[in-house]
Amino acid sequence: MNTAIYPGSFDPVTYGHLDIIERSAQMTDHLIVGVLKNNMKDPMFTVEERLEMLREETRRYANVEILTFEGLLADFARECGARVVVRGLRAVTDFEYELQMAQTNRKLTPELDTIFLATDLRYAYLSSSIVKEVAYWHGDISAFVTPYVAGRIREKV
Ligand code: PNS
Repeated sequence: MNTAIYPGSFDPVTYGHLDIIERSAQMTDHLIVGVLKNNMKDPMFTVEERLEMLREETRRYANVEILTFEGLLADFARECGARVVVRGLRAVTDFEYELQMAQTNRKLTPELDTIFLATDLRYAYLSSSIVKEVAYWHGDISAFVTPYVAGRIREKV
């Protein structure tokens, strides 16, 4: 079975993430969405809340599993038997950091490759931080996150 990992912070999951999940789930037998624990100084959501939202929004995909991980992605991938990491690339500004991560991960676990999916143009500008900022000032976030996630954000702000 081919297993791939889509790692991230997902604070919270946006339509951009969901698009990458849907597309990469079609390319692999088993997609693990890996939520990194404790990587953010001031997250809006706890890791459990982020898992809940991801599980709710990906329920319809039979081959998608939502898990948390701590420490190195390369170790988590090895534990899961995954050979592929999936990341979305929004713009050239993402590239340097993403390439550095991909090369580091490959150095740490040589059989681990990273594939990049070009973010759908509809979501090219989108990030969880931007969503949180717009929500903080009571802007309309309905184009960025699902109604369920928007409700969870509203509870927080
Ligand atoms: O959604 P994000 O915040 O861009 O995701 C970043 C993430 C979680 C993929 C990255 O920070 C990560 O993999 N962290 C785990 C620690 C690690 O393996 N670091 C070495 C590779 S640079």
